[in-house]
Amino acid sequence: MPKVVSAAPSFAETMVAWQKVHGRHHLPWQNTQDPYRVWLSEIMLQQTQVSTVLAYYAKFLEHFPNVAALADAPQDKVMGLWSGLGYYSRARNLHKCAQEVMSRFGGEFPRTAQELMTLPGIGRSTAAAVASFCFSERVAIMDGNVKRVLTRVWGFDADLSVAKNERTLWQMAEAALPVDQLKTAMPRYSQAIMDLGATLCLPRKPQCSQCPVLLTCKAHAQGAAEKFPVKTRKIKRSSEILWLLLAHNSKGEVWLEKRPATGIWASLYSVPVFQSEELLMKSLGAQRMSFTSPASMAVLPVFKHVLTHKDLHCHTVKVSLKRAPSGLAAGGWWAEKEWTVLGLPTPIRHLLSSSL
Ligand code: ADE
Repeated sequence: MPKVVSAAPSFAETMVAWQKVHGRHHLPWQNTQDPYRVWLSEIMLQQTQVSTVLAYYAKFLEHFPNVAALADAPQDKVMGLWSGLGYYSRARNLHKCAQEVMSRFGGEFPRTAQELMTLPGIGRSTAAAVASFCFSERVAIMDGNVKRVLTRVWGFDADLSVAKNERTLWQMAEAALPVDQLKTAMPRYSQAIMDLGATLCLPRKPQCSQCPVLLTCKAHAQGAAEKFPVKTRKIKRSSEILWLLLAHNSKGEVWLEKRPATGIWASLYSVPVFQSEELLMKSLGAQRMSFTSPASMAVLPVFKHVLTHKDLHCHTVKVSLKRAPSGLAAGGWWAEKEWTVLGLPTPIRHLLSSSL
């Protein structure tokens, strides 16, 4: 009688089996193969936790049920609904991407990662997520969670700040993808590796005792899971001082302008921003005649706002004006019920809520 040899399940097979039982199954962007919904969720989830994304995702789908509706929307409406999620280039690219799906692809998302990557805001990993979830393409996702899982399992200790090492990890990730029954295995595997990273293989205090690949995990064998991934180059941080002009009129309206399409808070609404006190004061010089009274100017306490690459130290000059400022870029007076629904940077929203 021939001997029956059953090979140990592969990494991918183990992950797929684990996801069926222990993975997440009820997130609103799961159980759909609609690329619009999957793409929207992946963009929102890039730098934001699931718990925060849930409400924004529902709101976006309500206002923009499909890619055509999003493409047709005014940019201000998209930015307004994104307000509070941060990393606003995601929202600008989201809108541009929807428009390109309409103009270049006749309203249908392309079905391969390669083509998806030609769209604004879709990088290699996001393209792989959409292509594997919706079209079962055999492509590897490589977001922060996935890097952590894979470097630990393989004891991959090369520095991921070095592009060559990241490319190597990506190649290894491709080699580890499922090989059979891709139609069902690919979406399940992609979800599995994200779920493992999000629920057990945590940056600190990973829950190794519940891990499906514990027995083959090199990092665990070394007793050093938290050492991975190795990334030496930290982002360079800088700081910047901004001077904000908080001008209001006797009706309680506030002066806001739309920021240019590039630079800080691009395409969002904000109070006028200056690089220095002198520049702010110079612009106010032209306004002095329209102060409501000499006592109507105040310097508010400095506050700090932390961005990924930068600490912003914000100084605010609050003034009450009788007329629209004339020396400033095009802007307008906005009543509270109007500005609350605008796309505002979070620190500006806080400033308006606390200081008007
Ligand atoms: N993070 C990125 N993509 C995700 C997904 N599909 N499910 C849960 N978390 C995610």
